Amino acid sequence: MNFGVIGAGQMGGGIAQVAAQSGFDVLVQDVQQAFLDRGRATIEKSLAKLHEKGRLADAPDVVLGRIRFTMELQDFADSDLVVEAIVENEAVKAELFRTLGGIVKPSGILASNTSSIPITALASASGRPERFIGMHFMNPVPLMQLVEVIRGYQTSDETARIVTETAEQMGKTPLPCNDFPGFVSNRILMPMLNEAIQCVMEGVAEPEAIDGIMKLGMNHPMGPLTLADFIGLDTCLSIMEVLHRGLGDDKYRPSPLLRKMVQAGLLGRKSGQGFYTY
Ligand code: CAA
Ligand code: NAD
Repeated sequence: MNFGVIGAGQMGGGIAQVAAQSGFDVLVQDVQQAFLDRGRATIEKSLAKLHEKGRLADAPDVVLGRIRFTMELQDFADSDLVVEAIVENEAVKAELFRTLGGIVKPSGILASNTSSIPITALASASGRPERFIGMHFMNPVPLMQLVEVIRGYQTSDETARIVTETAEQMGKTPLPCNDFPGFVSNRILMPMLNEAIQCVMEGVAEPEAIDGIMKLGMNHPMGPLTLADFIGLDTCLSIMEVLHRGLGDDKYRPSPLLRKMVQAGLLGRKSGQGFYTY
């Protein structure tokens, strides 16, 4: 299978890595060489870690050798499946899919790893809505089991079947859902993270205490503020905006503190500063 990934950030890199671990030929695209280099370095680090723990079937170099890096979208002409993992912005994603729809061979499937943006709208932009789907991996991709498979309004049964089987070949557990704002995962997760941020803003407790209470009290693997920093506060804000707009209820209103931190460039782990310093 010729497996394409657009965006070499934390999600795109992880998806490319797991696809290569499964034996697929992988092509990854980003807009600057520096982003491709950073993505490659992150993949190398993750492969080394998994190898050290005996969790890789092939040597790290063999897996890495299955991944090619490019800045050219034209290189995706022969891809069987392309998963998009760029910035969580509907206009930017729609523009990319308009272009990709004219490049990838007609039998190729286009998928978005979006956290919340309507799959049906992106499917329309691609010009091939039957062969378009949401393939939502969880962060960190090499360690998390779930792929949420989101059918757009016109996604064909055949597309859903191929993408479900591909996720299984990647060692993941695909679970289906329909196209509603935030799908299942982020409709339920994100309001909790937003509420934790609201607790910081209102002075309910210090960040360490909020995270500790949720970790020790609810057995969550990470506290909500650590998790928000890990996901990226820009991504969290974009998702909350989609929920607020799409579901039309003020219970989804993004916390003003979240908005302010993103405006200040405090994006969490990826910028070095969020609720914690990295
Ligand atoms: N690749 C390889 N190894 C990795 C890695 C990666 N990408 N990320 C972490 N590791 C390694 C760590 O380095 C660590 O190695 P050592 O044991 O040698 O120190 C090891 O994995 C285990 O890490 P920890 O001991 O710190 O923690 P853990 O085993 O308990 O689990 C975790 C780590 C799976 C990330 C866990 O903390 C967790 O489940 N966190 C919550 C993640 C989550 O909720 N993800 C979903 C986010 S929402 C989303 O993705 C959707 C969206 O649209 C926003
Ligand atoms: P990121 O900021 O780490 O990476 C995004 C990458 O996309 C960057 O390298 C950027 O240069 C690149 N990019 C931006 N515009 C591009 C374009 N037009 N063409 C090619 N590349 C472009 O972001 P991320 O956390 O990897 O998130 C990517 C997507 O995955 C978003 O839609 C996000 O909502 C979704 N997602 C994120 C998480 C998470 O926990 N962070 C989990 C699941 C899904």
